[in-house]
Amino acid sequence: MPIKIVMVCLGNICRSPLAEGILASKLPKDKFLVDSAGTGSWHIGKQPDHRSIATAKKHGIDISNQKGKHFTSDFFDEFDYIYVMDGSNYDNVIALAPSDQQKEKVKLILEELFPGDNVDVPDPYYGLQNGFDMVYDMLDEATDLLAKKLIAKHA
Ligand code: 4NP
Repeated sequence: MPIKIVMVCLGNICRSPLAEGILASKLPKDKFLVDSAGTGSWHIGKQPDHRSIATAKKHGIDISNQKGKHFTSDFFDEFDYIYVMDGSNYDNVIALAPSDQQKEKVKLILEELFPGDNVDVPDPYYGLQNGFDMVYDMLDEATDLLAKKLIAKHA
C-alpha cells in the first residue's frame, strides 16, 4: 500500500494542483501516491487553471490531466498526510475531521519551511502571472524538504 498524501486549497484549480504535481515529481511512484482537493466544490471535474498548467509546464511538470475534487471527511480515512495551503483551508479541513486523532494529519505546507510561523501560500486566483510563479517557488522549496522527510521515513 502506498503512503497517501493530499494537497488541499480552496478551489483545487490553482495552488493544490501545483503542489500535487511538484511533490509527485520528487517521490518514487511505487511508494507514494499524491492527490489534491479543494474545500470548495465549484470546480469538481475541471482541469487546473490554465495559469497553473502553464507554470508547471515551464518546469517540466504536466498537471493538465488532473481533475478537480471536493475535500470531504472521507479523505481523513483515505490519506496519511493532509497538507493545506492557508489558514482558512486549515480551519475548513479541521472542521471535517472525524476525530481529534485525525486532526494530527493536517498541516500547513509552509510549516516545512517556516515551522511555527503560520505562513500561508497566497491565493493567486485573482492576481497576475507572477503570483503563480511565486506560489511555484514556495511549493518547490517546501516540497524539497517534505519529499526528503517522507523518503527518509517511508521509502
Ligand atoms: P485555489 O484558488 O484555492 O488556489 O485553487 C482559487 C480558485 C478558485 C476560487 C477560489 C480560489 N474560486 O472562488 O472559484
